[in-house]
Amino acid sequence: MYRRDAVSTKLLVVISLLLATEVSSMADEKRNDEGLAERGYAVLTTYCQKCHGDNFEYSGLDVRDRPSLLKQEPNPGEAPFMVPNKPEASRLWLRASVADPDQRMPPKDQPQPSATELADLKAWIEAGAEFPERKIVEKRVFIGERTLLATIAADLQTIPAGQRRDVRYFSLQHLWNNPSVSEEQLRFTRAAVSKLINSLSSEANIVVPAVVDADGLVLRINLRDYGWTPDNQWFQLISRYPYGLKVNSPDAEEVGNLTNCEIPYVRADWFAYTAPRPELYHKLLTLPGLNGLPTNVQALESYLEVSIVKDFNTNEARRAGFTGQKSGVSDNNRIVERHRALLGYYWSSYDSGGNEERQNFFKFPLGPKVEGIDPRFAFDHDGGEFIFSLPNRLQGYMLAKANGERLDAGPQNIVTDPNQFGGSYDILNGISCMGCHKHGIIPFQDSIRDIFKNKSDDVAEKVRRIYPPNSEFETDVQNDQRTFLAALESACGNFMRGPDEKNRDIRLFPDPITVIAKKYDAVLSLSDVARELGLPEDQSDADKFQILTTAGNLKIVIQGNGRLQQLELGPLSIEQTITRQQWERAFQPVANELGLGIPQIVF
Ligand code: HEC
Ligand code: HEC
Repeated sequence: MYRRDAVSTKLLVVISLLLATEVSSMADEKRNDEGLAERGYAVLTTYCQKCHGDNFEYSGLDVRDRPSLLKQEPNPGEAPFMVPNKPEASRLWLRASVADPDQRMPPKDQPQPSATELADLKAWIEAGAEFPERKIVEKRVFIGERTLLATIAADLQTIPAGQRRDVRYFSLQHLWNNPSVSEEQLRFTRAAVSKLINSLSSEANIVVPAVVDADGLVLRINLRDYGWTPDNQWFQLISRYPYGLKVNSPDAEEVGNLTNCEIPYVRADWFAYTAPRPELYHKLLTLPGLNGLPTNVQALESYLEVSIVKDFNTNEARRAGFTGQKSGVSDNNRIVERHRALLGYYWSSYDSGGNEERQNFFKFPLGPKVEGIDPRFAFDHDGGEFIFSLPNRLQGYMLAKANGERLDAGPQNIVTDPNQFGGSYDILNGISCMGCHKHGIIPFQDSIRDIFKNKSDDVAEKVRRIYPPNSEFETDVQNDQRTFLAALESACGNFMRGPDEKNRDIRLFPDPITVIAKKYDAVLSLSDVARELGLPEDQSDADKFQILTTAGNLKIVIQGNGRLQQLELGPLSIEQTITRQQWERAFQPVANELGLGIPQIVF
């Protein structure tokens, strides 16, 4: 979906220099003005975020994410979207101010910023384009690990004794303690947990995790509600958990005893990042009577009671085919296909790495080349993607080679993800699919039926039977979307919405899982690391929670401790950052070194 038709930056510079003089003189007066950061940034969230943040209409452009706006090469060979102090070098500004209405952003059918708002945007970029400070921070009271454990211990007392061993928790207190985490991010984190656990469930009903405390920092689930067991799915999950600590406190002991589990709670954002990607996704995806996702398409189809060959021959299958230009994800010709299945719908795609010979689906629309299907007009494809209803009407995903063998990631010559939902251009099964298919099935337009319109041979006859007119197929897509969206609404609608968003349509929100996974995968600063360790700001909190050092002292502690430097924390003491992967490795030994707890490792 990477757009190559972007207007050249040079051309835009010229045009906007000629035409933005009016706005410029206004902008001059605005620099150094107090509310400028709020107002400048608000132009982006009001007029651009819908397509560049909630959705990704242009590869890599997320107006809510400053580092991504400043990236030197957001896409190979491209100029940055924004250059602080230099609106005329900022593609954001150039597109917002260009005179040609066909080039201007937002597109002309959308609400447009006023001249004053544009002047704010320009002045804000000229002043360095700092994002506004978050306001909510003062209200948050520091919550230590011991308080978290006390909350969980008290909650377990309210659960009937026979159920405690199936009860587990997700925690957000490390995010709450970090002033750079917004309220919205906390809401999306809760939503991500609920969407994800329900997307890994074998049960017929959506079950929303219970909110345990007043601030919504502890979520409780009963594993049975999702068909999970302590020894299978939960065990798989915690075997990979990098933040498990044995804390020396009576509450910790009680929580362990009542749940009969060494790690009965995990961090919510870690879960959102880790569980929806292979190979954990393949193990956790729970279908009634199955242990994980089948390892090939044939097994999945027989489980879902779908026969491609039968549906092809009885004309039950419904297809659409189009070129790579019309696909939102593939560079080559593509066919998509719908079947009725055991749990609702089953959709597949036929994808290829080229368009020649039998990979030209416009000449060979009647594959795939398998036994039982007339080979004369059968196409050759390289692989496929599959979406199926779960019992609760959310979706399961699979990727496979042409022979049906399951894949973890899509080959880049066939499909790529410009949004990098999985962390790179690779399409990873699970998380990448969830990002683009956040509303379920995605509409498309068939072009194959038309090509055979005036022909009367056998092939044309068959094409007419299994490639329905676009208007007819659209109804199927809409119904499938409605089904999915209703399940999504019950899984996470309430968690997503902020205080002023009670009536906001679920489709106007981003997919919470990919948003939170991306936040999780960011680099960490000294202050982020301090919060992740549960170090408080104030000495009084440190004393109260018996923690040896405050967040503010961490830098000095690192400088004076060779072991912490060895554990890769050195860069933090000179204002640099470390990656999430480094931090996952370092967390337990670092926490141990600081006396915060003993590494809890599950084998
Ligand atoms: C209704 C959806 C929509 C809205 C709202 C929107 N855009 Fe876009 N934007 C697009 C699409 C589609 C593309 C890719 C096609 C193109 O470049 O014209 C794009 C591309 C871009 C690009 C990258 C291409 C380039 O020329 O560098 C920038 C920058 C951009 N938009 C800025 C903005 C800004 C700034 C706003 C808000 C003031 C905004 N857009 C609002 C849909 C939107
Ligand atoms: C970059 C966005 C993107 C990603 C990532 C993505 N898809 Fe899609 N997918 C689309 C679009 C867009 C369509 C509509 C047809 C088209 O334009 O190619 C689609 C169509 C499909 C279809 C046909 C039914 C429908 O929704 O139209 C299936 C099946 C499918 N995708 C499966 C998957 C699976 C499985 C994954 C993850 C492995 C995945 N997709 C990842 C964008 C994406």
